[in-house]
Amino acid sequence: MASTQPRATITAVERFLPERILSNKDLEKVVDTSDEWIRERTGIAERRILDGEPTSYMATKVAQGLLRRRGCHADDIDLILVATITPDMVLPATACLVQDQIGASKAWAFDLLAACSGFVYALVTGAQFISSGAHKRVMVIGADKMSAITDPHDRSTCILFGDGAGGVLLEAAEDGSGLIDFEMHADGSGRDDLHVRGGGSAYPATHESVDEGLHFIRQEGRTVFKFAVQRMAEVSLSLLQRNELTAQDLDLFVPHQANRRIIDATANRMGLASEQVMTNIEHVANTTAGTVPIALSEALDEGRLKPGNLVQLTAVGGGLTWGSALLRWGNAA
Ligand code: UT7
Repeated sequence: MASTQPRATITAVERFLPERILSNKDLEKVVDTSDEWIRERTGIAERRILDGEPTSYMATKVAQGLLRRRGCHADDIDLILVATITPDMVLPATACLVQDQIGASKAWAFDLLAACSGFVYALVTGAQFISSGAHKRVMVIGADKMSAITDPHDRSTCILFGDGAGGVLLEAAEDGSGLIDFEMHADGSGRDDLHVRGGGSAYPATHESVDEGLHFIRQEGRTVFKFAVQRMAEVSLSLLQRNELTAQDLDLFVPHQANRRIIDATANRMGLASEQVMTNIEHVANTTAGTVPIALSEALDEGRLKPGNLVQLTAVGGGLTWGSALLRWGNAA
């Protein structure tokens, strides 16, 4: 039976990338690596670095851009969701800082932590408040200042990550567009594969924890790589199948941008043609919760998103977490 609930559709998209570029050549001066190795093994040529400002700075820029694009006022926003693993501080939530900085006096606000899956998790969460009729406008932002938690001397991570933010405005669809379906997963038994141990209640910050670098992100690169390829393809195909669709029906597949080889292997497993896949990892790198909305925003600017298009957003990240959202594109600004 068809659902009578309104669908949440994206009515505006925005991104923010800091100005400073950190190239592979720059990294060659810090760690034992090469431009050639990084390009070949990851597809990344450069990443952006935010100097002197926290994550909320980027998230606020995105929020202001969403209001401008949609032509609405901060008081029109009911809820602000920020997906991040690099909040400005442990308390308060970065979403509350954004709420204050844009003057969204009627909105409630909270952060959501699902690492690289954060934006897809937050999108699906925010959409529920639109479908239920509880809210009219929900802002969903993915923002990470990865340079704040990346060990500049760890060549297995410092080459991968960058800083950036993106976001969308969700409203009830009037044109049949919007979130069609989603499939989300978590498996905490993979907690050791990708983590930042220090600074929480398990390993509170001490001189020793800082000396040991527990405040930096660490990963089992090869394990995460294999997991990402398997799960991104699996969840994407499963979601398509239960909606009686195939990969060939997709107009645009927007995957988390972790590694060009992960994206290519996922697309290959799904049987997607390269024109169906959005990639911008070369100049943006892995911005964690920022990747999917930044890629969506660039796709819109490039004319790759048209009303009526079938779009799939899929991500995998620390937790471990993974999931996919299927949308009919509307008329987003
Ligand atoms: O959003 C989720 C976040 N994390 C990820 O997505 C990570 C997923 N994993 C990856 O992207 C890849 O595993 C990496 C890019 C991290 C590593 O690539 P790889 O092809 O899996 O390399 P590897 O770890 O198997 O290492 C191969 C070799 C090793 O040398 P030996 O032992 O063969 O002599 C590494 O020490 O490459 C070496 N290596 C490097 N060499 C130059 C590792 N990192 C670098 C580097 N530059 N930056």
